[in-house]
Amino acid sequence: MINSTLATILNFSIIEFILVVVIIGPTIYVMVTSAPFVPSQMKQVDRMLKAANLKKGAKVYDLGAGDGRFLHKAANEYKANAVGYEYSPLVWLWSKFLSIFWRSSAKLRFGNFWKQDFSDADLIVVYLLPNTMIKLKKEIWPNLKPGTLLISHSFSIKDFKPWKKLPKNRAKKLGPVWIYKKTTKN
Ligand SMILES: C[S@@+](CC[C@H](N)C(=O)[O-])C[C@H]1O[C@@H](n2cnc3c(N)ncnc32)[C@H](O)[C@@H]1O
Repeated sequence: MINSTLATILNFSIIEFILVVVIIGPTIYVMVTSAPFVPSQMKQVDRMLKAANLKKGAKVYDLGAGDGRFLHKAANEYKANAVGYEYSPLVWLWSKFLSIFWRSSAKLRFGNFWKQDFSDADLIVVYLLPNTMIKLKKEIWPNLKPGTLLISHSFSIKDFKPWKKLPKNRAKKLGPVWIYKKTTKN
């Protein structure tokens, strides 16, 4: 009832209104609350996955999977069990289309990563904004198992010492990489 009134006021048909809410709503949500879609450079993906020293079957998550590039590479080159969550409908659809060409075992799920469980993760990769990293430290980090690596493209967690850092590479135009390791003490 409220929806149809709003649709009428905005001069949309109800179908157009639903499409706008379903597609634009989550897209604006991710841009405001976490990060817009900006894919990591392939060279950055390669050096982040290499730094993780992945074993066959390792559980890898990408929080905000974008077009799925991390997951496909992790699955194809490291035989990882790779799962990603993407909440922007158009980006997620694009990732599903690209999956046809990658032909990997990676799972690209449509969903909000704040609502997921990562307690079985061996590696979490992210490319998220600084404020989102602070929220991640509060809400997701405490539930990870000891030994889990969190590898972040460009943005660090404020006031949290990384386990390792890969420097910025000006020549290749790559940002720094921050590696955090979950222990029983942090
Ligand atoms: C900067 S892009 C990084 C994409 C990919 N990880 C990469 O490095 O190429 C961040 C992605 O996170 C997605 N995102 C942001 N908040 C999200 C949320 N709460 N749940 C799922 N995806 C989210 C955005 O839609 C965007 O595609």
